[in-house]
Amino acid sequence: MDIKNKNIVVTGASDGIGRCTALKLAAAGSNLALLSRSQEKLDLLMQELSGKYPQQKFIAYPCDISQLEQIKPTIQKIISDFKNIHVLLNIAGIWLKMSPLEEVAPEDIQSVIQTNLIGLIQITSQLLPNLKQQSEAIIINDSSRSGYMAQPGQSIYCASKFGVYGFTEVLKVDLKDSGVRVAGIYQGGTNTQLFSKANEVDRPRDNFTDPNDLADTIVFMLTRPPKLWIHDIRITY
Ligand SMILES: NC(=O)c1ccc[n+]([C@@H]2O[C@H](COP(=O)([O-])OP(=O)(O)OC[C@H]3O[C@@H](n4cnc5c(N)ncnc54)[C@H](OP(=O)(O)O)[C@@H]3O)[C@@H](O)[C@H]2O)c1
Repeated sequence: MDIKNKNIVVTGASDGIGRCTALKLAAAGSNLALLSRSQEKLDLLMQELSGKYPQQKFIAYPCDISQLEQIKPTIQKIISDFKNIHVLLNIAGIWLKMSPLEEVAPEDIQSVIQTNLIGLIQITSQLLPNLKQQSEAIIINDSSRSGYMAQPGQSIYCASKFGVYGFTEVLKVDLKDSGVRVAGIYQGGTNTQLFSKANEVDRPRDNFTDPNDLADTIVFMLTRPPKLWIHDIRITY
């Protein structure tokens, strides 16, 4: 896809991989709908993007994707602001400190599944009619290495990410005769604040993948010619 002037929704845009990806997409000429909970962090990103690329359209949408009642109006607003959506990048997600299942708080189970799986599905479902109207559209879902390999102590995080894997696989089949192409990303440890936000600070991260390199990979996937589609990427460090 030629991503110049295309309208792209990035969830998890305020930080980490989503933020790095947003910066690279903006540099390539895309217009961006930037979604995450933190208005403050989105404002900082908006300032940077609008300063560098004043001709392009960037709009921030503070939204907690674990809350259905916030998703609906946000997607309606995005469609009203941009009219046509060409790409959906489902990157938002949270980590859960590794522990045996019986030690996981019920609220944490709820929150991880709601954010990483149900929020991603709800956003995709509500944007899909618009994506299907485009002659060419793309959905990329950021799962994880924990989305295809059992990882000790990660029952809930793995459940959410295996869910994203299954969802992505079925979407590929369901949309094969449409103009919407679907891909999953399955990366191992990436050097962001994902873990420290979940109070897991003792993970050695020096050798983790640089989120900028992952963002380059996403841009590479998006910009392949129409008859070349990379529909799965597994990345390790
Ligand atoms: N880092 C890794 O090692 C790694 C490995 C495999 C897969 N992944 C996946 O990669 C994706 C990006 O993670 P990251 O490493 O870039 O982490 P990050 O730096 O913590 O970024 C996560 C992003 O998701 C947003 N987010 C979290 N909960 C949200 C919610 N309820 N509603 C809306 N937005 C929400 C955050 O923004 P707000 O706080 O502003 O809401 C932030 O922008 C995640 O899906 C993660 O599971 C990461």
